[in-house]
Amino acid sequence: MKSRFTQGSNDMPNNNILIEVKELRTYFYLTEGVVRAVDGVSFSLERGRTLGVVGESGCGKSVTARSIMNMVRKPGRTVGGEVLYHRRNGDDTTEEIIDLLKLEPMGDEMRAIRGGEFAMIFQEPRASLSPVHTIGTQIVEAIRLHRPMTKAQAREHGIEMLRRVKIPRPEQIIDAYPHQLSGGMCQRAMIALALACQPALLIADEPTTALDVTTEAQILELMRELQATFETSIMYITHNLAVVAEIARDVMVMYMGKDVEFAPVDAIFHEPKHPYTIALLSSIPRIDVERDMLATMAGTVPDPYALPKGCPFHPRCPSRLPVCSQDIEVPYVFFDKGHRVRCHLYTAK
Ligand SMILES: Nc1ncnc2c1ncn2[C@@H]1O[C@H](COP(=O)(O)OP(=O)(O)OP(=O)(O)O)[C@@H](O)[C@H]1O
Ligand SMILES: [Mg+2]
Repeated sequence: MKSRFTQGSNDMPNNNILIEVKELRTYFYLTEGVVRAVDGVSFSLERGRTLGVVGESGCGKSVTARSIMNMVRKPGRTVGGEVLYHRRNGDDTTEEIIDLLKLEPMGDEMRAIRGGEFAMIFQEPRASLSPVHTIGTQIVEAIRLHRPMTKAQAREHGIEMLRRVKIPRPEQIIDAYPHQLSGGMCQRAMIALALACQPALLIADEPTTALDVTTEAQILELMRELQATFETSIMYITHNLAVVAEIARDVMVMYMGKDVEFAPVDAIFHEPKHPYTIALLSSIPRIDVERDMLATMAGTVPDPYALPKGCPFHPRCPSRLPVCSQDIEVPYVFFDKGHRVRCHLYTAK
């Protein structure tokens, strides 16, 4: 049976799924209390598609990404759900389904998947680069782990990737250590490292924050090229809705650990359903609207240790109903073309 969380509207089994995330929950156990950073998120990502993930700071975007990579560290723990990886064999004739959360996070299998079949570009550029190895050593090692190349070939490929992410003098920079590079250069080196392995899944967490807009446009183009050539699936986390409009096929909107809305990109921009999505869209600066006319979202993000009961958005919601503050899980409501929303406004009357 096709899951209701897979895209598309027909009932045929979908053989193009790469990742299925089901009821994912990752909590942080701190002395101050428990932060339910990701609290029941479900979605799937097809091969060759890009999912944009948006939402205000602290809503759980990065923790969702780390959970998929099985990289959550103490005091955090993934306490529920599944991350099903539909892995194809070499000639694409059969696939096995692996629940990544059942693998040992630092075990051989998970490490082989992470960094080879999957790659992640982190929000903090230096986070994924080892400070004690040169950029070249790291790229060559990553490439050779997953592709049959000699050291010399992998180095050449690495230099080519550095050139493609617009690093100047790549023949020299390949022998530099991360601390010798600026933040923006580190970010580009990390992108080169992620793309060099031609991953099946690329998770890009605010990948272009330290870059100027021209380089950002080139990086987006490079990702699109990679996607077209290798059918890479991309999960692209960003605050920039203009980038989402440009790169994503589908969009997931998160609020306080929940996937409040999921839809094809056009539907998110033209028929947003969740009041939070509507507020998020109306807070984008537009050239045709005077600055003092811009809507700002009412209220502030709630304290993560003391989330409101019921729908976490209800205290800020202009359309709230009495049911929204009741201590019940807000159900999904499904529309055409994979559009779904978690909001009582749309539950059957
Ligand atoms: N290592 C950690 N220890 C404690 N709490 C954490 C940790 N990492 C994340 N959290 C908490 O989990 C919640 C979700 O954080 P997350 O980093 O996923 O947000 P985000 O949506 O990526 O925000 P941003 O847009 O600022 O990057 C936040 O309340 C955050 O404080
Ligand atoms: Mg983040």
